[in-house]
Amino acid sequence: MAEQVIRTDIFDYEAAFLAYKDSNNDHEKLSLFNHTFLKLLEDQGLFCREDQTTLVGDIGCGDGGATVHYLKNIQFKGGLDVRVTDKQPEFAGSDTSSDQNKNSKACLAEEILSNAKQSQIIPLKNYQVRYGDILADDVAQLLYTNEEMKASMNRFDLVYLSHILYYARYNHQNGRYGVTHVVDSVATDLLSENGVAILFHSGLRFSKYAYFRIAYFTRGVIQNVDPTDEEIKRLSTDCAIRDACNELGLTCFEIPYKFDLCFSKDIRKYSDIYKDPSRYHELRGNPSAIKDLRVIIFMSHRSPEDLYADKSPRGLNNLVDRIVDAVENNGCVDLFSFMQIILSRKASAEFKQKIERAVKECQNQLCS
Ligand SMILES: C[S@@+](CC[C@H](N)C(=O)[O-])C[C@H]1O[C@@H](n2cnc3c(N)ncnc32)[C@H](O)[C@@H]1O
Repeated sequence: MAEQVIRTDIFDYEAAFLAYKDSNNDHEKLSLFNHTFLKLLEDQGLFCREDQTTLVGDIGCGDGGATVHYLKNIQFKGGLDVRVTDKQPEFAGSDTSSDQNKNSKACLAEEILSNAKQSQIIPLKNYQVRYGDILADDVAQLLYTNEEMKASMNRFDLVYLSHILYYARYNHQNGRYGVTHVVDSVATDLLSENGVAILFHSGLRFSKYAYFRIAYFTRGVIQNVDPTDEEIKRLSTDCAIRDACNELGLTCFEIPYKFDLCFSKDIRKYSDIYKDPSRYHELRGNPSAIKDLRVIIFMSHRSPEDLYADKSPRGLNNLVDRIVDAVENNGCVDLFSFMQIILSRKASAEFKQKIERAVKECQNQLCS
C-alpha cells in the first residue's frame, strides 16, 4: 500500500505543530513582547552581572527553537545556562536512561541548543535537555541537577512556559490540578527572588470568529457551538493560570495581544480534498497544500478520521468551510494570546513594583 501523505488514523501532533508554527506570527509577536520586556528588565539591572550566569528554564520547550529565539539580542553579560524539558521524544529524547547527557542525544532540542552554543548566537555556556512530563514528573527534578536539588533551590532567573499549560489542564499524577501544581513549583522551587516566569498562551475569549474559539485550543472538548462563560473559565488557559495564581496567593501580570494564522491562497481549491481523508493522496507532491491540511488538523487536535466521522458543526466539513471563509474574508484567521508573568513566592514588594512598571511600559510601547 502506498505511504499516506499524512496519518489519518491518529492526530500526528509533531507534524501538525510544526506546520502550525510555520504558519502563524504568534512567535514573531510574542518575541517582540518578550524582547521588549527583557530589555526593560535589563535596563533595570537584571541579567547584567558579568560574574553571574543567567539560569533559564523552558518547560515544554518543543524543538528548542523558541527557547533560543527568546534569548536573542539581550547581552546576558555573565552568559547563559539553559535547561529545557519536553514530553515528546523527538524534541527532548527518551526517558530510557537516567543519565542526563545520554538521554538527550539525537533529539531536536539537543541539536538546536548545541548549534546555538557553537555559533554563540546567544551567549550560551551550558545547556541541558531532559525528557519529562509535567503531569507525571516534578519540574524541579527535571531542571535542577541532583547536586543542586540537595544544595538549594530558587536558582532560576527566567523560566519560560510557552504554549505548554494547555496540556496541564488535567490532574497531575499526585492528584493536584496540573496548572496549579506547575505554577506552584515554578514560583516556589524554580524562581530566584528576582526571577521571572514568562508564560504565553492563546485565549478563547477574544477571537473575532466565534467558531475559532471552539475549534482552536479547545482540543475537541468544548461542546457548545458558542463557548459558554463556564467553558471559557474552565478551558481557556489564561483563566486557569489566573485562577491558579489567585489560589496560590501569587500576583499574575498580563498583556493580551492578537496574532494571525495564515494559509496559502489555494486553500479553496483543495477544500473538497481536505474534507475527505480518503482523498489525501491527491495532495502528494504539493507541500503547501499538505502544510495547510496539517494546520487545519492542528486547529482541532483530533485525527482526520475522527473529524471526518463527526458530522456535527465541530466536524471536518464545517472546520474546513469556516477556515476557507475566514481566509477569504480576512486574509487569515485572527487569534488571541496572552503574555502572563509570574514571580517567585519570595519576590519583594519592591521587585513586584518594578515588574508592574515594566509590564505597563511594555503595553504602552506595543499595544497603543
Ligand atoms: C505548542 S508546543 C510549544 C513549544 C514551545 N514552547 C514553543 O513555544 O514553540 C507545546 C509543547 O508542549 C509539550 N507537551 C505537551 N504535553 C506535555 C507534558 N505533559 N509534559 C511536558 N511537555 C508537554 C509538547 O510536546 C510540545 O512540545
